[in-house]
Amino acid sequence: MAPSLPIAMVLLAWSTSILFCGTYLDPATPFVRASEPSALQLEAKALLKSGWWKSANTNNVSSGCKWPGITCNAGGSVTEIRVAYYLGEMSKLNLSFFPNLVRLDLHKAGLQGSISVEIGTLSKLTYLDLSHNNLKGELPLSLTNLAQLVVFNVSYNQITGPIPASLSLLIHLSHFVLYTNQINGFIPLEIEKLSNLSILDLGGNMLTGPIPSTLGNLTNLKYLYLDSNQINDSIPPEIGNLKNLIYLLLTNNSLNGQIPSTIGHLTNLKGLNLDSNQINGQIPSTIGHLTNLEYLSLYSNQINGQIPSTIGHLTNLEDLFLYSNQINGSIPREIGNLKNLIYLDLSNNSLNGQIPSTIGHSTNLSYLSLSQNQIKGSIPIEIGNLKSLSFLNLAHNNLIGHIPTQIGNLHSLNSLNLSHNFISGEPPVELGTIDKLLFLDISYNNLTGNVPNSYISIKSVNLSYNYLTGPVPTGFDRNHTRHTLIGNKYLCGDTMGFPPCKNSIVTKVKIFVAIAIPLGFLVLGGFLMCRCMVKETQFESIETKNGNLFSIWNYDGQIAYEDIIEATEDFDLKYCIGTGGYGSVYKAKLPGGKVIALKRLHRLEAENPTFDMSFRNEVKVLTEIRHRNIIKLHGFCLHKRCMFLVYEYMERGSLFCILNSDVEAMELDWSKRVNIIKGTAHALSYLHHDCIPAIVHRDITSNNILLNNKLEAFVSDFGTAKLLDPDSSNQTLVAGTYGYIAPELAYTMKVTEKCDVYSFGVVALEILMGIHPTEFMTSLSSTSSQNMMLHEILDQRLPPPNHLVAQDIFLIATIAFACIHTKPKSRPTMQCVTQEFLSPMKSIAKPLHAVSLRQLRNQEMHMVACMRE
Ligand SMILES: *[C@@H]1O[C@H](CO)[C@@H](O)[C@H](O)[C@H]1NC(C)=O
Ligand SMILES: *[C@@H]1O[C@H](CO)[C@@H](O)[C@H](O)[C@H]1NC(C)=O
Ligand SMILES: *[C@@H]1O[C@H](CO)[C@@H](O)[C@H](O)[C@H]1NC(C)=O
Ligand SMILES: *[C@@H]1O[C@H](CO)[C@@H](O)[C@H](O)[C@H]1NC(C)=O
Ligand SMILES: *[C@@H]1O[C@H](CO)[C@@H](O)[C@H](O)[C@H]1NC(C)=O
Ligand SMILES: *[C@@H]1O[C@H](CO)[C@@H](O)[C@H](O)[C@H]1NC(C)=O
Ligand SMILES: *[C@@H]1O[C@H](CO)[C@@H](O)[C@H](O)[C@H]1NC(C)=O
Ligand SMILES: *[C@@H]1O[C@H](CO)[C@@H](O)[C@H](O)[C@H]1NC(C)=O
Ligand SMILES: *[C@@H]1O[C@H](CO)[C@@H](O)[C@H](O)[C@H]1NC(C)=O
Ligand SMILES: *[C@@H]1O[C@H](CO)[C@@H](O)[C@H](O)[C@H]1NC(C)=O
Ligand SMILES: *[C@@H]1O[C@H](CO)[C@@H](O)[C@H](O)[C@H]1NC(C)=O
Repeated sequence: MAPSLPIAMVLLAWSTSILFCGTYLDPATPFVRASEPSALQLEAKALLKSGWWKSANTNNVSSGCKWPGITCNAGGSVTEIRVAYYLGEMSKLNLSFFPNLVRLDLHKAGLQGSISVEIGTLSKLTYLDLSHNNLKGELPLSLTNLAQLVVFNVSYNQITGPIPASLSLLIHLSHFVLYTNQINGFIPLEIEKLSNLSILDLGGNMLTGPIPSTLGNLTNLKYLYLDSNQINDSIPPEIGNLKNLIYLLLTNNSLNGQIPSTIGHLTNLKGLNLDSNQINGQIPSTIGHLTNLEYLSLYSNQINGQIPSTIGHLTNLEDLFLYSNQINGSIPREIGNLKNLIYLDLSNNSLNGQIPSTIGHSTNLSYLSLSQNQIKGSIPIEIGNLKSLSFLNLAHNNLIGHIPTQIGNLHSLNSLNLSHNFISGEPPVELGTIDKLLFLDISYNNLTGNVPNSYISIKSVNLSYNYLTGPVPTGFDRNHTRHTLIGNKYLCGDTMGFPPCKNSIVTKVKIFVAIAIPLGFLVLGGFLMCRCMVKETQFESIETKNGNLFSIWNYDGQIAYEDIIEATEDFDLKYCIGTGGYGSVYKAKLPGGKVIALKRLHRLEAENPTFDMSFRNEVKVLTEIRHRNIIKLHGFCLHKRCMFLVYEYMERGSLFCILNSDVEAMELDWSKRVNIIKGTAHALSYLHHDCIPAIVHRDITSNNILLNNKLEAFVSDFGTAKLLDPDSSNQTLVAGTYGYIAPELAYTMKVTEKCDVYSFGVVALEILMGIHPTEFMTSLSSTSSQNMMLHEILDQRLPPPNHLVAQDIFLIATIAFACIHTKPKSRPTMQCVTQEFLSPMKSIAKPLHAVSLRQLRNQEMHMVACMRE
């Protein structure tokens, strides 16, 4: 191995110079002579040696710059590495050889082992993302050498050990993200030196000790996430110095003491989550200064005293969670100023006093729970103004008076619980006319009068332990386990164990005998019909319902929810089949044998209103649309404590995975590939042209196209379909996936259907080529690629297409090229694309192997007829 000796020496000198002088040697310096391997060749060799670029032309090392995910500078030296497929051991790529590397993005790359010590040689690195991997071990001290680092993200790994205090030398750091690891020890006091930090995310670790008061010096902080650690002191008053803070998340720690009144200085705050701690004392009245607050969550603490009336200043508030504390006094009238409120949960406190009638002003309320308090007086009739309400729980209070008939106006009401109060009067007939009402519980009250017949249409009715009289309506029977009337000793009827009513039993028996048989059929038929209709209306209510909170699996409510929890053993990791940017996917087998997929938000994201909104949007979009190539949503639970969506299960997983496995890719023959492309096109055309308003998916990728066991395509993941909220300036959200995003999105924020068309074009090429076409697309403008033949770019793992499929492939390739036009206007609409697919096949003049890419592109105008218009 004699020849390698000089190389090693050069390298040694080279890396030492990096470490000790902080300078790097330009590849052109005389230090690396032409006779010895140049720095460039060493780079290329290191890339090659890693084995990470299997599909690349590995014989020609000098073409490394063209390998996928690699960017070079003008001198041909690597400046950026970004790979998102499975790589394995991180140490396979020796990082010592990349003096010019500026960005290293290996998120979701299946990295194993520990973070390479050699990372410290990358003295020009500004961006480091190793998130979503399986990295173990401690943070290497050599990270301290990355003096230019601006973004540091190692979230979602299994990194242990403490946060090295020396990282405080990385003074350019703006994003410091360690979320979900096993980092322990204290938060170093030195963190105050990172004065440019805007995102500090240490959530989901094992940090203990206090929040250092020096954190108050980080006045550029916008997002501070320390949730789900074991932080165990009080919140330092210095937190009030963080004037630019937008989100403060300290949830799920052991914080004690009071909320400092300085919190009122954080006037830019949109989200304040201090829930699940041991915070005591009162809510400071200064909270009323936080007029930008949209989300306030203080539940599960030991907060006492009254709700300050200043809360009425928080007119942007959408979610207010104060449940499970020891708050007393009455609900302030000012709560009615919160016109944007959607969720209000004050349950499990010691509130007394009456429900203020002003509550009727918060007309956006969708969820209202005041249960488990000592609230007195009657239910205000103004509650009937809350037209968006889908969940109302006033149970376990001291309410008296009648149920206001105005509740019958709440057409969105899904669940009503007034149990365990002293409510008197008759159960209002109107409740039975609320189409969407599925759960009604007025048990343990002082209700009198008859059970209204209209209640038969409500799926689950509990009127037990009241003073109801008269006959039980026909339709309620013993076997209808969800209709409960026990404990009403004056009810009668031949059913549910009640004594017979006082009319003539003899005639009834006669009539019964006379019509028993035909009625039997009728009842059976009626039952079946009724079941069908119920199912039908269930779907109908799904379709029209937007603000619904939890509607699970054919609306079986609690039982089904429990089924899901049981089937996944409360979302045990062993049922997890995938983890994405903000959630995980689980596979579950329900008791009936049905297999479903569950998408569940990660803990942090469930607290984040934006992701919450994205889930909500996905539900909204998916419940309103139905297409044979779009994934079906079976149900959902949208509650802070259970954020998940239930889908039909797709046996074959994502198109991306299939294309990346040689065995499975071969199973995906040409005609199946053609069908997948056509199915996807139909789904998109439906979204763009048949839905009003049009829906833009915004994240069409091979990852978001799922396949069932017949290898048919289903478009999934509508989380970003409407995520772009023009009113919010949340820059942390990226819509779309790198490599599929239409180029115009880089400089305009304008989302049109043509963005999907572009992504569709990329996916179509990917399916034809068997790999993502980034590399190919960048080379498209060159003459050499124009001279390439169509058959050369097709996935070589498959035999060449026969003449029947060849027609389709020719058409698809033509369309795909039209779709990836840089100018949105030059791209066809999806309607045009599907029209092309449906029109009788025009035969191509030449056999496939004689078609060049240039001809294909020229063909575009002739082939795609609707584009000429
Ligand atoms: C290697 O790749 C470079 C750059 O793509 C190219 O100029 C050169 O001709 C290739 N050499 C061989 C032997 O293919
Ligand atoms: C990387 O290369 C340097 C210089 O050749 C060498 O000292 C080091 O041991 C290598 N690291 C690994 C993990 O191979
Ligand atoms: C890692 O964190 C940085 C900074 O917050 C962010 O820009 C990047 O998107 C994150 N990476 C992933 C995969 O979430
Ligand atoms: C801090 O951030 C600002 C704006 O992003 C930038 O101009 C400045 O150079 C940064 N300072 C340091 C020390 O990185
Ligand atoms: C916090 O926890 C640490 C380690 O568990 C302990 O040493 C310390 O006394 C605790 N501090 C408080 C204020 O409880
Ligand atoms: C942090 O702020 C305190 C005053 O609040 C000041 O005395 C101290 O010097 C600051 N530290 C740094 C590193 O800026
Ligand atoms: C709370 O934090 C613990 C670890 O400290 C974690 O295991 C648990 O999942 C977190 N709970 C929630 C609801 O996030
Ligand atoms: C009610 O709150 C207390 C703490 O104040 C908590 O221990 C208890 O579990 C809560 N009960 C319910 C049903 O949430
Ligand atoms: C509320 O509770 C606090 C102590 O927790 C007590 O001092 C106060 O008198 C109570 N107020 C009312 C209105 O019950
Ligand atoms: C509820 O009914 C019970 C039994 O009739 C009676 O003792 C009680 O006074 C009634 N309560 C109210 C608030 O009407
Ligand atoms: C209730 O169901 C049981 C068996 O599940 C059946 O034997 C009985 O006849 C049913 N009763 C009525 C009233 O339908």
